[in-house]
Amino acid sequence: MSSVVVVGTQWGDEGKGKITNALSSDADLVVRFQGGANAGHTVSVDGTPIVFHLLPSGISVPGVRNIIGPGVVIDPIALDVEIAEVIDRGIEIGENLMIDVGAHMVLPYHKALEAAEEKARGNAAIGTTHRGIGPAYADRCARDGIPIGTLAAFDVFRSRFEEIVDRKNEYLVRLYGEEPLDAGEILEQLHPVAERLARHLSDTPETLRAAIRAGRNVLFEGAQGTLLDVAFGTYPYVTSSCTTAAGVAAGTGVPPSLIGEVIGITKAYTTRVGAGPFPTELTDDTAKTIQERGSERGATTGRARRCGWLDIVALKYSIALNGIRRIIVTKLDILDSFETIKVCVAYDIDGSRTDRFPRTVDELRRIRPVYEEIPGWMSDTGEARRESELPAPALAYLKRICELADVDICSVSVGAKGDALVEFTSVF
Ligand code: IMO
Ligand code: MG
Repeated sequence: MSSVVVVGTQWGDEGKGKITNALSSDADLVVRFQGGANAGHTVSVDGTPIVFHLLPSGISVPGVRNIIGPGVVIDPIALDVEIAEVIDRGIEIGENLMIDVGAHMVLPYHKALEAAEEKARGNAAIGTTHRGIGPAYADRCARDGIPIGTLAAFDVFRSRFEEIVDRKNEYLVRLYGEEPLDAGEILEQLHPVAERLARHLSDTPETLRAAIRAGRNVLFEGAQGTLLDVAFGTYPYVTSSCTTAAGVAAGTGVPPSLIGEVIGITKAYTTRVGAGPFPTELTDDTAKTIQERGSERGATTGRARRCGWLDIVALKYSIALNGIRRIIVTKLDILDSFETIKVCVAYDIDGSRTDRFPRTVDELRRIRPVYEEIPGWMSDTGEARRESELPAPALAYLKRICELADVDICSVSVGAKGDALVEFTSVF
């Protein structure tokens, strides 16, 4: 099958952007199917990093067409800025970007409400990215959302917006004691944005289905990670979309029968940004080393990421949920300096050992990870491009991951640069 889904198997920031970008040279179409500008996909273009939030990571590859699917929530103002930045970097977009008319919009009241809600949650705050994601998806389900296709007829959009913004201001003012938003100002800002985005608006599902039927290579680029999935993640410390491979059908209009292999992107250790349970989290010098060596700072919010060892129990849970047979391991080079590396092989919950990933936050909080120690390689892997160029202990670490998680590895990333990849088997 010519369609491949790339999903994060952890809490996001697994390096999906770099991998999607690398795979894009063999793809005809790259498609985002969920999430929004909460994603921060860092890609190296001509040796300089660029962060995509809404644009699919294939946008910098000439000749590749990119789709923002109906399952994505789009902040039109943020997308407009991102497009301008990308054009500024000399990347040609033109016909290569299609925005599905059915994707819902994130509007300024979503961001304002999210900020007020997070403040009101106090100690129970989720630590969201403040990109308006939760309120926008909530509005879509509540039938108060506005699909981006509405922007094509600005008068239609205006009347719908005016009807909704009054109610949103009631919440802001009466419930949260915040200032109301100025509807006129927002409309004025959106008008030119709507004109610029209109040329990319498109009815995309049939284009996609036809491409897959014709044998074109289609890459579905997941955002966030499996453990942030709204149904199967560490709820309520999750995002508001379906981040697993199951989200592809619902978020693009491609039926499950046309979806091919699901490739998991797994960082060689674990990070998490925002609040919520994290069984293998470290707070010692090791965490500091990983954080510094791995530049583990949020690409969207700039927050320092929490760091810890690789968690095989969580990885197996993600593999099962997504139907993953092959993973791509990223940031292996960040572990280059350690004498010993640990992997969590089981959980201890109240004295009993399990390899089941708990479904409640209460249980997740009581986990004590059971570790296996693996010798480090203490040498530089950043220049390796072939399996034979990786040190034996690094290969042993990768092999152990495969054994424990019952999965194969198709490649390993050893640096931020696009070509810093060791390929074992090809994806398409
Ligand atoms: P990429 O695609 C890591 C986290 C936030 C927060 C929770 C909910 O770059 O891997 P939201 O703003 O989505 O309502 O926040 O989800 N989060 C991410 N963490 N990588 C991401 O995206 C994330 N997108 C959201 O930090 O804990
Ligand atoms: Mg990120």
